[in-house]
Amino acid sequence: MGYKSEIQNKNLAWFLPRPRPPFTYKGVMPLWGEEWLLELAGDLLGKQDYDLLSLFCGLCKQGFRIDINPDVKPDLVADAHNFVDLLPAGMMFDVILADPPYSDEEAKQLYGTGKLNYKKWTSECIRVLRPNGLLIVYHKLMMPNPDPKKFIVVKRVFLGIRTWHLPRVAIYFQRRDAEFIHEQGDAITSNPKWKEN
Ligand SMILES: C[S@@+](CC[C@H](N)C(=O)[O-])C[C@H]1O[C@@H](n2cnc3c(N)ncnc32)[C@H](O)[C@@H]1O
Repeated sequence: MGYKSEIQNKNLAWFLPRPRPPFTYKGVMPLWGEEWLLELAGDLLGKQDYDLLSLFCGLCKQGFRIDINPDVKPDLVADAHNFVDLLPAGMMFDVILADPPYSDEEAKQLYGTGKLNYKKWTSECIRVLRPNGLLIVYHKLMMPNPDPKKFIVVKRVFLGIRTWHLPRVAIYFQRRDAEFIHEQGDAITSNPKWKEN
């Protein structure tokens, strides 16, 4: 399978070499990171006006912002593992941008926060993500598909940032609706095309 294949066409690489000001908050995205990631989400959805949830928002500015740290003045102070029941009833999103701490050690050292359970917080996201909506997981690891029966990978953005820093990767998981899952059911697990997810 060549580099022009469908699988490879999902990949993008950006070089955004400056942290976004203010630099005082640990783990902020690179300059233009938030804006470019969200514009790409709009391009994938075919509309730039969409309902956005920024989970683990830190100092990210856009959308409905959730963080466990009240100092970053989120719209909702909540633990990502249990936030849905704290939202206004029926609130749903087209895009969720999630930028969690990258490890339990970093969570403790940088933010004084507890261990993360990927399965648990992504399950919360599924509860409020509309069909065909995008869950963007921004990380230094290639994070797995939270649920291959509910999501497919539609884009991966590899971000080069500062020298002597690890690159980051933003994976765009698109939620498929029940009909798709019903129709594709076995294909998702048996067709090699889906294995990358
Ligand atoms: C990598 S930082 C986000 C930085 C942000 N993207 C920016 O550019 O400013 C991770 C954030 O996750 C928050 N956090 C850590 N554990 C959390 C949890 N269990 N629930 C919600 N937020 C959490 C931290 O307070 C921190 O603001």
